[in-house]
Amino acid sequence: MMIEVCPVGEVRTAGDGIFILRFRSPRIATTIRAGQFLNIRASEGIDPLLRRPFSAYWTDKTDVEIVFHVVGRGTALLQGKRPGETIDVLGPAGTPFGKDNSPFDTAVLIGGGLGVAPLPILTRELAVAGTPVVSFLGGRSRGYIVRDHLENLHVATDDGSEGFHGTVVALAERSLTTTSFGRVKLFACGPMPMLRAVAVLARKNGMPCEVSLEGPMGCGIGICQGCPVELAGEEKKYALMCKEGPTFDIRTIRI
Ligand SMILES: Cc1cc2nc3c(=O)[nH]c(=O)nc-3n(C[C@H](O)[C@H](O)[C@H](O)COP(=O)(O)OP(=O)(O)OC[C@H]3O[C@@H](n4cnc5c(N)ncnc54)[C@H](O)[C@@H]3O)c2cc1C
Ligand code: FES
Repeated sequence: MMIEVCPVGEVRTAGDGIFILRFRSPRIATTIRAGQFLNIRASEGIDPLLRRPFSAYWTDKTDVEIVFHVVGRGTALLQGKRPGETIDVLGPAGTPFGKDNSPFDTAVLIGGGLGVAPLPILTRELAVAGTPVVSFLGGRSRGYIVRDHLENLHVATDDGSEGFHGTVVALAERSLTTTSFGRVKLFACGPMPMLRAVAVLARKNGMPCEVSLEGPMGCGIGICQGCPVELAGEEKKYALMCKEGPTFDIRTIRI
């Protein structure tokens, strides 16, 4: 894991209050794997002091993209970056998808809101491996659906402005019961209530499932102990989201 000062290429709008920031780093672009994240200093000063974690959303040979909502000071500063300005990036951080080796025929990707972030690179990695992919993406409304690079996409919106009127997990469950995908493995990222519903779906159907968590973090490098994830099992034990995660085999954690 390294720190690098990277020039910003562009910041473009991708939805309602949603932006994609592209920066140049051939090193990160060619090494980062789906599910890993970047810990970014949004400011050259001390406000905000802590880096902010973002999943790698897309890469080409030289550039990396992140996608984000503006929710506070850090993301507002990132949205305001102009081409040629720099950001200080630590990464690739965390561990990629691939925690569970069960064989499967179809990868079913489920994203809630900006939980879509790790899914495009995952889609590309699965395509390289020759694995069929079906994607389900949910959002509050049409303006919250960031759909680039996804394959066989089915959309659900809370307000019915696009696709299925309801939750993305309900849509995925309906599709899984009406279509034959062979042996399915679920990959999911999104808000905790969505991940809990995915866990129930996986358990009910005996499907392997990996999730990428996006809970609060402090240092992002395994020092502050500020990102505990409770492990499944009798004994109370914790993993660090920033080090052992953010991807986990859902059977190994309590969410
Ligand atoms: C591994 C990982 C990957 C992530 N990937 C993305 C991504 O691809 N795109 C994206 O938009 N966001 C992502 N996040 C969340 C992102 O890091 C936060 O939204 C960001 O740090 C907010 O910074 P801020 O300074 O703008 O807001 P702050 O001022 O720090 O916070 C604003 C509000 O958001 C809440 N908040 C901050 N962080 C989180 C969080 N992790 N979960 C829930 N609420 C939070 C705060 O409690 C506060 O209410 C990811 C988080 C993790 C841990
Ligand atoms: S965020 Fe500091 S240990 Fe994980």
